[in-house]
Amino acid sequence: MTHGVTSSLVVASLRTYLSSLQESGLDGIPSSLAGEVADMPAPTKPDPSTATEQQPAAFQHPDSLQKIRKDLGECQRCKLGKTRKNLVFGVGNPHARLVFVGEGPGGDEDLQGEPFVGEAGRILNRVITAMGLKREEVYICNVVKCRPPGNRDPEAEEIATCAPFLLRQIQTIKPEVIVALGKFATHTLLGTRDPISKLRGKFRDFHGIPLMPTFHPSYLLHRQGEGNMESFWNVWDDMTQVLRLLKLPVPDKSRKR
Ligand code: URA
Repeated sequence: MTHGVTSSLVVASLRTYLSSLQESGLDGIPSSLAGEVADMPAPTKPDPSTATEQQPAAFQHPDSLQKIRKDLGECQRCKLGKTRKNLVFGVGNPHARLVFVGEGPGGDEDLQGEPFVGEAGRILNRVITAMGLKREEVYICNVVKCRPPGNRDPEAEEIATCAPFLLRQIQTIKPEVIVALGKFATHTLLGTRDPISKLRGKFRDFHGIPLMPTFHPSYLLHRQGEGNMESFWNVWDDMTQVLRLLKLPVPDKSRKR
């Protein structure tokens, strides 16, 4: 992503974020948030026990996934709204310790309204099971909530329009770790263009939450031969780091090299 695209993404994201705050009933911006706009959109929710009458209403009432879904409504904020069948919000445990973020819905997801239910979803399910977890224990969502026609990459404007809602989901769930699935989600969340082969395997910071970039399940699906097994093990290595950070047991997998 060039600097120009990144900054227009930030500006568009800021604009949409401010209007989503407005939609959510906030009629003024607290100066502390306005002053931190460069690092937006990441308002910290104050401890409800310390909330005072002076604080704006939106900061006294914690956000919820239901509210975010309701705010999205029959979203037509970008042109993907015209071609999608179903908006794919996200699925899983609203208190998940671990959130997976993919790129955007494909055909199966568009039909069913649930992320990662097609071929790539079967691979992701295998990864989650191999980690000793259940799909219902984690939360799964995407950078954009509507299928780009023909499975093309989402455009900067579409990402920027959807970004505030993804951020609200993450801030509501408050996961301990995020896994960014593939180049696209990683580049979008981290604002970098480094190759995924270089980014994967090391924790990065996303608004104070450790983020592990790894290969996208579709990449594992389509990579042939020896390289495919290597990529599977790379993903496994990344997931073992995630499990260790979460202080969860790491299932033993014997690697035949
Ligand atoms: N690929 C993604 O990135 N997300 C999905 O939901 C399905 C396939």
